[in-house]
Amino acid sequence: MGVQIAPSILSADFARLAQAAESVQAADWLHVDVMDNHFVPNLTLGLPVVESLLAATDLPIDCHLMIEDPDRWAPAYAEAGAGSVTFHVEAAHAPVRLARELRALGTRAGMALKPATPVEPYADLLDELDMLLVMTVEPGFGGQKFLDLCLPKVRRARELVSGRGLDLWLQVDGGVSAETIERCAEAGADVFVAGSAVFGADDPDRAVAHLRALAEE
Ligand code: DX5
Ligand code: ZN
Repeated sequence: MGVQIAPSILSADFARLAQAAESVQAADWLHVDVMDNHFVPNLTLGLPVVESLLAATDLPIDCHLMIEDPDRWAPAYAEAGAGSVTFHVEAAHAPVRLARELRALGTRAGMALKPATPVEPYADLLDELDMLLVMTVEPGFGGQKFLDLCLPKVRRARELVSGRGLDLWLQVDGGVSAETIERCAEAGADVFVAGSAVFGADDPDRAVAHLRALAEE
């Protein structure tokens, strides 16, 4: 698949989400951060807004669920038509069952790891997934500083994926910018979420193209 860029609308104007989607036509995905004020100390949006966005854009939607009990809530995002649904392993009760359920609903199943969550304990369930998200900030807010300490985990995740010959995308999210994206790509990431680096730019589409060029180098 090569490099994919997924702008996060967390840094867009929430009253103009359709225009935000339109402003990043060069993107591969639209990354939508669902937060419930429990799993993370912030509240964003939920299923009704995702449904409206699905109707408002042709870009596939990548839902990042930062919520408690994703076992209960995640399948509805797949049923609504999200192209990818990512749950946090720290919050999931039965990650294998949930991943299988998401795939059965026709969506790509993603699993996310917070900075302090190691990848090794999950090595045996990687082939149940279509994407692994290695967070590069503590989830909850846009505009945070990139955590370099997460890069060795990206590298180890890439080794596990290659070693097992899996077709698994490796996503990074948090503090990804023109300053940090090359380090992420070098460590083995291939799907890059960027919020403030895209929607904080004067020309979001140009920012997407610039990030892509840096990651492809
Ligand atoms: C943070 C979210 C990210 C956020 C990234 O918890 O998961 O998707 O939007 O924002 P930046 O790119 O500004 O760090
Ligand atoms: Zn996110």
